[in-house]
This record gives sequence, C-alpha cells and structure tokens, in this order.
Amino acid sequence: MHAHETTTDGVGSARDWWEQRYAERDGIWSGRVNAVLADVAGALPMGRALDLGCGEGGDVVWLAEQGWDGLGVDLSVTAIERGSRASVSAGVEERTAFVAADLATWETAARFGLVTASFLQSWPVEIPRAEILRRATGFVAVGGHLLVTAHAAPPHDDLPVEMREYRFPTPDEDLTALQLDGSWDVVAAELRPRTATTPDGDPHEVLDSVVLVRRAR
Ligand SMILES: C[S@@+](CC[C@H](N)C(=O)[O-])C[C@H]1O[C@@H](n2cnc3c(N)ncnc32)[C@H](O)[C@@H]1O
Repeated sequence: MHAHETTTDGVGSARDWWEQRYAERDGIWSGRVNAVLADVAGALPMGRALDLGCGEGGDVVWLAEQGWDGLGVDLSVTAIERGSRASVSAGVEERTAFVAADLATWETAARFGLVTASFLQSWPVEIPRAEILRRATGFVAVGGHLLVTAHAAPPHDDLPVEMREYRFPTPDEDLTALQLDGSWDVVAAELRPRTATTPDGDPHEVLDSVVLVRRAR
C-alpha cells in the first residue's frame, strides 16, 4: 500500500506557512503517537485508519505498527515525505500511505474504521477546520469511529505570538462542527488533562478537547 502522491489544488497561504514551519527544522514533532489516539485506537478492532493533518506521520506509523492500514493526509509535502520515510524506517511501509493534499477538497472513495484528527489546528493562517471535520464524517465506514483531538488551551507558555491569539475550540464546538445526523452515537465530547513535555523536556499539564463519535448505521 506504500504510496506517496501530491495534489496541486488548495489553500496557498496555509500550505506555504506549514511548509516553511517544517522546513525550519528536520523534525518538528516528537514522532511518538498522540496519547489520546493510542487510548482510543487500542480499544477498537483493527482495520483501515485515516489520519487528517498527519504531520510527520507519528500516528500513522504507530497505527501500522499495531496492525492497522494507515493513510496520512497533510498539506505539507515536506511533512508527507518525512512520514513516508518514517514508515520505511519502522518497517511498516506496506501498511502505510501518505498523500499531500488540502483536506478542504481532498476526496476518497475509501471508507475507514477509524478517522482521526490530532491537533488539526493552524495559526496564524486560518483553515476551514469546521468544514474539514464535517467532510471527514463522510469517510467513516458504518460501525467506524471519528476521533477529533484538539488543543483546548495553549500547549505550553513558550508560544509564538500568533498562537497566543489563537481561539482554541471546545469539545461542544467540534461536535457541532460535525453536523451529525441520527446515524451517529456520541461516545465522548470532553476535556481531558494530560501531562506533556515542553520543547526543553520539562513536564507540564495540557488540556485536550476530545470528541469521539461512532457511525452506527
Ligand atoms: C499542529 S499540526 C499536527 C500534526 C500531527 N497531527 C501531530 O499530531 O503531530 C497540524 C497539521 O495540519 C496540517 N494541515 C493544516 N491545514 C491542513 C489542510 N487544509 N489540509 C491538510 N492538512 C492540513 C498542517 O500541515 C500540520 O501538519
């Protein structure tokens, strides 16, 4: 399944901003799985998973290591190339695919047992986040789950000025953005505190917004 493609449609300024951010350093994320995803996915039957705004692929690689087939989509070509390389280093490239595309317009005929978005948040460049999340409901298979994990508060004090002005979503706002009809069950829509580490390695408390819904029919 290992594949790697690029589309050209899209949101120029957000792409440029993220490209520049990824280009500044060799790796901007830890490469480790996000804790909420590990909790949720660990309790689900394995199948196909889609990661929205997958960044450098830490979650996709982890999912593949657990036995899922993981597809990661991100605006940034640099991030997608890193995800692709990480899957090869981890020896799970057969169970991963990465696509550079704008999720506001990206389409797929595939349906997934798990669609996950971890910190699909963009500052200072706006993205149509609510629309992206609403579209993502269409990618979930019957019986499958959609997980939206977001920073509900600044993740640490050492933030760029733009991020200090960013408005963090609440679980209710993310749930509302999904515009679910009666074929969905809401499993969770809540704030979860978590201990994280600053870029300097110091532990500190952060607050995640977690929305987990299941397509019942
Ligand atoms: C804060 S990062 C999170 C990355 C990863 N999920 C993680 O947890 O490490 C947000 C990611 O969303 C991506 N992104 C932002 N807008 C997007 C869009 N419209 N389509 C696809 N990806 C997007 C960015 O390129 C960036 O990699």
